[in-house]
Amino acid sequence: MHRIAVIPGDGTGPEVIREGLKVLAAAAKKFAFKYEIKEFDFSGQRYLKTGKLVDDKDIEELKDYSAIYLGAVGDPDVKPGIIETGVLLKLRFALDQYINLRPVKLYDQRFCPLKDKTPQDIDFVVVRENSEGLYKGMGEFQNKGSQDEVAIQISYNTRKGVERCIRYAFEYTRKRNRKKNLTLCGKTNVLTYAWNLWQRTFNEVAKDYPDIKTDYAHVDATTMWFVKNPEWFDVIVTDNMFGDIITDLGAMIQGGMGIAAGGNINPQGVSMFEPIGGSAPKYTGRNVINPLAAVCALSMMLETLGEEKAALAVEAAVIEVARKKIKSLAAGKMGYSTTEVGDLVASRI
Ligand code: IPM
Ligand code: MN
Repeated sequence: MHRIAVIPGDGTGPEVIREGLKVLAAAAKKFAFKYEIKEFDFSGQRYLKTGKLVDDKDIEELKDYSAIYLGAVGDPDVKPGIIETGVLLKLRFALDQYINLRPVKLYDQRFCPLKDKTPQDIDFVVVRENSEGLYKGMGEFQNKGSQDEVAIQISYNTRKGVERCIRYAFEYTRKRNRKKNLTLCGKTNVLTYAWNLWQRTFNEVAKDYPDIKTDYAHVDATTMWFVKNPEWFDVIVTDNMFGDIITDLGAMIQGGMGIAAGGNINPQGVSMFEPIGGSAPKYTGRNVINPLAAVCALSMMLETLGEEKAALAVEAAVIEVARKKIKSLAAGKMGYSTTEVGDLVASRI
């Protein structure tokens, strides 16, 4: 029995999660597995009403679940930073989901903004460190408000934190079994403390994986190659901040936020799966948002739960709907409503 904690969240989050759960029900029926869900109402809306974010009691409760399925959090009426740190980052950090796994896969040439790139060219995965770096929130103001003000924001990188992320990336590259190539994406030429630790750790861990080819790319060059030669990449490992930035670009070359999904993974604990597009307030309640990213997140969750056949069937259904049915991945331009796209996928399971 899989116990799934569902956090629909804000904006279009509940609309896309509803379609994801529809597909989950179809997959459970077809592949004969059992699950139960419990909804948690963490959101910007709840914060505005009650002042509550995610507290330690919530975290303890979530630890009893097999996985978490999250729609989106973020409300334009709440000052930036509060919901992000109090809900999303709180969950990632407190549950020690130290990997943010973001596949970048083009399902149909029509969806790619790059000239002449095909699904063969765009199929790689970014392994983003998800518990340290600039996201640790370390730093301070000095002389705040004065002309001599200094704001310091520290990138915090521990040997253990870096090593567990790099090891995960090597294991993942081996298991993925495609080009068997792992690229370290960093900035060794300027950020000479953090990326020196990353590079040294990467080189040492690489010795345990003689079957995996390795290379290195500076983060700025990586963005260039995402556009120019995305076919070079297989798996990329990088820190929290660079991973955040390059995966938005990755999402665009795979067709946009309508299709991009990610997993916040704790390999020994509770992982959380989400479409990476955010709460898209301007589309809320209009039944026009694309639920496929949330369905892709569901597929990733099923794989983690050990329902590999179901995961593959869900992905195959998404591919078929994307290729044969919908006109565009963009909200409002699909040629179908949110609920219709969910029905199309579910009916193909
Ligand atoms: C993401 C988002 C988050 C991040 C924000 C909402 C805190 O941009 O999941 O990539 O920066 O990690
Ligand atoms: Mn981001």
